[in-house]
Amino acid sequence: MDMQRIPARDGDYNLKNYDKMRDSFSWDEVKKNFSWNETGKVNIAYEAIDRHAENPDKKDKVALLYSSPDREEQLTFDDLSKKSNQFANVLKKYNVKKGDRVFLFLPRSPEFYASFFGILKTGAVAGPLFEAFMEQAVRDRLQDSEARMLITTPELLERVPQEDLPDLENIVLVGDHNESSDKYIDYHKEMSDASTDFDIEWVDLEDGMVIHYTSGSTGKPKGVYHVHNAMVQHYATAEWVIDLKEDDVYWCTADPGWVTGTSYGVFAPWLHGVTNVIRGGRFSPDDWYGTLDKHNVTVWYTAPTALRKLVSAGEDVVKKYDLSSLRHIMSVGEPLNPEVITWGLKAFDLRIHDTWWMTETGAMLIVNFPSEEIRPGSMGKPIPGVDAAIVDNEGNELPPNQMGNLAIKKGWPSMMRHIWKRPEKFQSYFINEWYVSGDSAYKDEDGYFWFQGRLDDVINTSGERVGPFEVESKLIEHPAVSEAGVIGKPDPERGEIIKAFITLNEGYEDTPELLEDIRKFVKTGLSAHSAPRELEVKDSIPKTRSGKIMRRLLKSWELGLPTGDTSTLEE
Ligand code: WTA
Repeated sequence: MDMQRIPARDGDYNLKNYDKMRDSFSWDEVKKNFSWNETGKVNIAYEAIDRHAENPDKKDKVALLYSSPDREEQLTFDDLSKKSNQFANVLKKYNVKKGDRVFLFLPRSPEFYASFFGILKTGAVAGPLFEAFMEQAVRDRLQDSEARMLITTPELLERVPQEDLPDLENIVLVGDHNESSDKYIDYHKEMSDASTDFDIEWVDLEDGMVIHYTSGSTGKPKGVYHVHNAMVQHYATAEWVIDLKEDDVYWCTADPGWVTGTSYGVFAPWLHGVTNVIRGGRFSPDDWYGTLDKHNVTVWYTAPTALRKLVSAGEDVVKKYDLSSLRHIMSVGEPLNPEVITWGLKAFDLRIHDTWWMTETGAMLIVNFPSEEIRPGSMGKPIPGVDAAIVDNEGNELPPNQMGNLAIKKGWPSMMRHIWKRPEKFQSYFINEWYVSGDSAYKDEDGYFWFQGRLDDVINTSGERVGPFEVESKLIEHPAVSEAGVIGKPDPERGEIIKAFITLNEGYEDTPELLEDIRKFVKTGLSAHSAPRELEVKDSIPKTRSGKIMRRLLKSWELGLPTGDTSTLEE
C-alpha cells in the first residue's frame, strides 16, 4: 500500500532541518535550557512550575485551563506554585520523605495537578492511577509499590482495599467525608492551614520522579520507574515535535494515569511555560470539538481511537465548531490509520502527526515532524539523539524493509531506570546495547519506521495496554470459571477488543446471563477497559505441556488462521 505522501507545509517550525539537527546533535545543548545546568539544583517541579512563577512576565499567565461539564477553573503558574507548595507542606507534616511512593487516585481536576507537583517538591515519587481502576487494579499497584500515602476522593475510597495495604499510612481525602480516624487527612482543611512557601527538596537527575504501572504478557502489572532526568527529553520533544511556542494553547487528551498524560499532559507543556488545557469528563465528539473551539486550542495531542470515533461521527459535527485556531495535531498509542490522516486533511485541513513511544521509554522516540514529509502508515523517524533499528533475536541489525524487533540504542534521557523491585524483568528488555520494544516493525530505505504489530500477547484496546494474564486471573476468581485464555481481536474502532475463552466449573451452564455476570465481574473488580467484550465457553483451553496458555493458538482459531507449530500442545 503506497499511499500518497504528504509533504510538509511551509511554517515557522521550531525544528527546521531534521537531518542537520540529527548530524550535529548533543543532549548537552538541550540541558542549557534548565536552571540546574547552572545552579546544580534539580527538581522537575521547579523547572515546570516555580521557575515561571518567579518570572514577573510569566507568573500570572494561565498554566492550567481546567474545564469539565460541571466545573471551570484557571490556575496561573503562580497559583500552581503556591498550591503545590501548600500540598508539599501537608505531605511533609505527615513525614513524607524523598523516595517515598505517594499515589494519586483522583479524577482529572485542579487538585490532581497541585498534589502531583506537591509530591514532586518533597522529592517523593508520584504514582498516578487511572480513576477507572477497580479494587484489584488498585491493590496490585499500591501493594507492589509499597505506597505510604494515597490521595483520593471519598467516592473512590471504597475501591481501596486498605486491609491489604499495610504500608499505606495515610490517605488524603479530597471532598466531603465522615472519616474520623487519624489515618485520613482532609485535603481542603490541611491546604487552608498550610503555608504557600516551601523549601523544595533538591534531588539528583537520577532520582525517582514517577512510577507508571503497565502491562506485559505475563505477571502482574509492572512499575516503570522514571527519574527527573526525563525532563531533558520532554523538553526537547515538546520543542521539535509538538512545536510549542509561547502563545500556544495546548491540549493533550490523555489521562495522567497513563504515561502520555504525565510526560505530555503535564511536563512537556509546562517545562515550556505554555497554557495547558485539561478537560475532565468523558469523551463525546461534541464535547471534544467544543473544547477545541471554546479554548481556541492551537496544538492538540490525541489518540487514534478517539480520532476514529470522530471520523465515525462524520463531518457535519466538525462543521458546527470553529476550529480555526488549531494549527498542529499529533497522535500516539496505536497505529494511526492512513484513512484517519486523509480524513484529517479534509476535516481540519491539517496533517495528523503520528508519534511512537512506550511507558518504558518515557517520551517520544519515533515521530513525524511538522517540517518533514508524512508517509501515511509510518510512525516516522527517530528524534535527534536517538538511534532506532530493526534487530533480530540476537540483537543484530537487519537491513531495510526486513521485519524484526523494533529496538532503541540504550541511553536516551527519558528511558525507565528500573522496574520496581523486579531487576530481572528490567534486564529482560535488553539485548546487548539494545532496548527491545516488543513491537515488530521495519524501516524503509529512507529511514521511516513502519509498525507491524506486537510480538507478545499484550493487547492494545482503544490505546490502552492490557495484559492478558491480569484479565485471566480475574476471570478465574469468578465461581463459574475454571480456566481462561484471553486474546486481542482486531476491531475497526478500538484497534483490538478483548476476547476471553473460558471453561466452566461443574454445575454452571453457558447462558447469556452467566456470561454477562462474568463480564461485569471483571469490569467492577479490575477495570472497565479490561473487561472482555466477547466471552466464549470452551470444553478446554489449549495449554503447553508446561501449562502455559497458548494464546496464539486461540487467536489463530478465532481469526481462522493456520495454527502453526502446535508440537508443544498438551495432550
Ligand atoms: C503501541 C503509550 C503503533 C505499541 C505512549 C507500543 C503504537 C505500545 C504507537 C506502548 C504508534 C504506541 N503506532 N503502535 N504510533 N504508539 N503504540 O506503554 O505497541 O501505553 O509498544 O505507551 O503502544 O503503549 P504504552
